[in-house]
Amino acid sequence: MKKNSQTTVSQKTHPRAVTLIPGDGVGPEVVNAALAVIEATGVAIEWDRQAAGMNAFRRFGTPVPDALIKSLKRTGVALKGPLETRVAEGWRSINVYLRRTFDLYANVRPTMNFAGVHTPFSNVDLIVVRENTEDLYSGIEHEIAPGVVESIKVITARASRRIAKFAFEYARTHRRKSVTAIHKANIMKLSDGLFLKCARAVSAGYKEIRYQEQIVDAACMRLVTHPESFDVLLLENLYGDIVSDLCAGLVGGLGLVPGANYGDKGAIFEAVHGTAPDIAGKGIANPIAMILSSAMMLDYLGRRAAGDKIRAATASVLRAGKVLTRDVGGKASTSEVTGAIVKAMSRG
Ligand code: NAI
Repeated sequence: MKKNSQTTVSQKTHPRAVTLIPGDGVGPEVVNAALAVIEATGVAIEWDRQAAGMNAFRRFGTPVPDALIKSLKRTGVALKGPLETRVAEGWRSINVYLRRTFDLYANVRPTMNFAGVHTPFSNVDLIVVRENTEDLYSGIEHEIAPGVVESIKVITARASRRIAKFAFEYARTHRRKSVTAIHKANIMKLSDGLFLKCARAVSAGYKEIRYQEQIVDAACMRLVTHPESFDVLLLENLYGDIVSDLCAGLVGGLGLVPGANYGDKGAIFEAVHGTAPDIAGKGIANPIAMILSSAMMLDYLGRRAAGDKIRAATASVLRAGKVLTRDVGGKASTSEVTGAIVKAMSRG
C-alpha cells in the first residue's frame, strides 16, 4: 500500500486507481449503487476490479487471490463489499486478514440519526473508533484437552496507544467534545487495564476533549437510554464490533451506517453490514451504507466536496421519505434509491 504520512483521514494526492471489491451476497448490488453515485460526482477513478471471499474461492480456489493483494499494494485504497465468513468452520475472516495484512488499525463508523428515518432514539451522533488488529481477533485458538479450548486475547500498549491517539486526533480534527473508552477492566484487569492505561495517557495531550470511561455492559444500556451522552467511542476490536451494530440499530439499521478502515499507508472503505444472505439477489438491499462509505473514500482522496454532495443528496432522499428500501420503512428497490440519490445530486 502507498505511504500516507497522516494518521488523520484525508489524503491530498489523488491515486491513479482504486481497488474495487464487489464482495459476496448483497455486495455487488450495493457496490454498483456506490459506483453510480461516484460517477455522478464527476470524480474520475480508475477502478481495478478484484474478486475476494466466496466468489473468489469459487473461481480461483482461494478467497484471497494474489491479484487482490497486488492490487491493494499498488492502489493503497479500496472500496469493498461485504465478504462471507462461515460460522465455526472454514477459513479465517478475510476482512480480519486484510485489515491485519495492511495494518488498517482504525475502524471508523460514523452513526447518526437521519431526518425521515424514524426510530425510538433521537440525538444520536456517534463516531465508533474500533481497534482493528488485535484482541480476540488475533485468531490464536487451540484445544488444550478434549472439550477444553482457549482463545487468546492479545492487547498491546503499542496498538492501544495508536488507536487512542487516532480517536483523539479524530475528535480534535472534527471538533468533537468527548472520547469515551469502553472496557471491561473490572474483569480483564490486565488486558483491558492496559488499554485504559494507554487511553488515559494519550488523553492527557488533548485537554480540550473530555475523556470518559465506561464498562461495556453499562455503556450498552446507556447508549440506548442516553445516546446523547456519548460522542467518540473508543473500543477494542470485539467490543467495537458488537457496539457498532448496536449503534446502527439506534439510527435505523445496518443499511444506513458506513465505515472505513484506516492505516498509515492506506484505507479500505466498506459498510458496517455483512452479506445479508436473506435478501441477497433480490434487489432490495439498502445501498445507503455503501454509498456513504464511498463518500468517506472521496474525503480520503481529497475530494471532500464530492463526498459532501453525496451526503447531502442521501440526506435529502431520506428526509423526503418517498423512495426508501424496506429496512427503513419503504418499498423501493436498491436501484430506485440509487436513482433518487443521483437525481438529488443533479439538483444540488
Ligand atoms: P448482515 O449484516 O449480513 O445481516 C444482518 C441483518 O441486517 C440481516 O437481516 C440483513 O438482511 C440486514 N441487512 C444487512 N445489510 C443490509 C442492507 N444493506 N439493506 C437492508 N438490510 C440489510 O449480518 P450477518 O447475517 O450476521 O452476516 C452475514 C455474513 O456477512 C456472514 O458471513 C458474516 O461473516 C459476513 N459479514 C461480513 C462483513 C464484512 O465483510 N465487512 C461484516 C459483517 C458480516
